[in-house]
Amino acid sequence: MMISHPSSPGYQASRWSIDSGVQLTGESKMADYEIRDVQASSHKNIIQVYWEDGHVSRFHSCWLRFNCRCQICKKITVGQHNIDKSDPNFSDQLTIENAEFTKSDVKLTIVRDVIKDHVTYFDANWLREYCYCDQCLRKIITDRQMKFADPRKIPKVDCNELKSDEGTFRMIQKVFDVGFVILTGVSQKEGSVVEIGERLAPIVDQTYGKLFNVIDDPKASKENVASSTIGLPFHTDQCHYERGPGIQMLHAIQFDECVEGGESQLVDMFRVMEIFRKESPADFRVLTRVPIFFSTIDFKRKSPAYIKIRKPVIQLDYDDEVVAFNWNPGTENVVQVHEDDVEPFYRAYRKLSQILVRPELMFQYRLREGDMLFFNNRRMVHARAAYKSNGGTRRLQGTYIDIEELKSKYVVLGHKLGHNVIPPKIGNGCSI
Ligand SMILES: [Fe+2]
Repeated sequence: MMISHPSSPGYQASRWSIDSGVQLTGESKMADYEIRDVQASSHKNIIQVYWEDGHVSRFHSCWLRFNCRCQICKKITVGQHNIDKSDPNFSDQLTIENAEFTKSDVKLTIVRDVIKDHVTYFDANWLREYCYCDQCLRKIITDRQMKFADPRKIPKVDCNELKSDEGTFRMIQKVFDVGFVILTGVSQKEGSVVEIGERLAPIVDQTYGKLFNVIDDPKASKENVASSTIGLPFHTDQCHYERGPGIQMLHAIQFDECVEGGESQLVDMFRVMEIFRKESPADFRVLTRVPIFFSTIDFKRKSPAYIKIRKPVIQLDYDDEVVAFNWNPGTENVVQVHEDDVEPFYRAYRKLSQILVRPELMFQYRLREGDMLFFNNRRMVHARAAYKSNGGTRRLQGTYIDIEELKSKYVVLGHKLGHNVIPPKIGNGCSI
């Protein structure tokens, strides 16, 4: 096979022969992506693959060798480690010696490979799937980007939908699309929230136990202001952990008509951060760097606890995407940062706080008895309007479930039901 492309300077045309004693996988007989040409760089450390659809990929020799898909090298079982990348016999600068291609595969040999007569092999579809050009990397991110819903529309799902796989799939899809749903028609039986939660993903039992009650209780309010009638500012629950619980569920067991106020409020913090980044880029950067302390420390209460952490408000990833945030004015500690950061921190914090309370960003809903608020605690900050009991009761029961397991359930269900599912970005510190 001739590997040449005379019109591209910098790429050396050459004829390489292949001598393979290695059995190849031959995964793809009929490639969906077809290779039109392959060229090697003049230093023979990169190959450039020209695809029939016009796309061009570049692969480095080290990447090719360490991801080889031949039967000796490819991973078949989780945990396998077939290529020892630390092997000192591999050169730091691997050079491609020979290469061949057909429209559906590429075979190449590396100078002084650690396996005698080894042929590095790739099926065209696999190679294209893992192309790491800027365009392909960007597509992975954009396909998963969050879309922001209209706060005037409250997403509701009848809890009977959860009786079928299709209904469950659609409900989870809505949670990941919008950030929350109101499940309606939930039985007012004590503990229903845990029962429903357990069916979807494992319960996350951190500071407040498996099931907690949110009710006006003067004694309990000394430990947590949620157990009062006071309004609560927007926050994420349990920021004092390395990562707070992913999904929060709040079930209205009792919410008497005479109670005035007490609406549930939500804001999509990823939308807030997008606005913040656009309007105040320098302040945005400050909050990606300067940390806040969060803690829950109490040795005297019923279940004593010492949980403390220091982390910035905004977390970015490798691609500079916002992938997580930490926001809870109620569990914030005293600011203790380098002197030069104090003023920039407060300025940035105040700007973000002011965006957060813009009325057009707020979802607001008064739960009715039998409603259950089901939301992504890593995406939506939540608040409660103050209320007056007027002799009535507002009692919610809550629990948390694992968001990564819920995402897994969603993708697995989608696969089972034959839906084309792109795993969503969920605010767990990752864009994919
Ligand atoms: Fe909360």
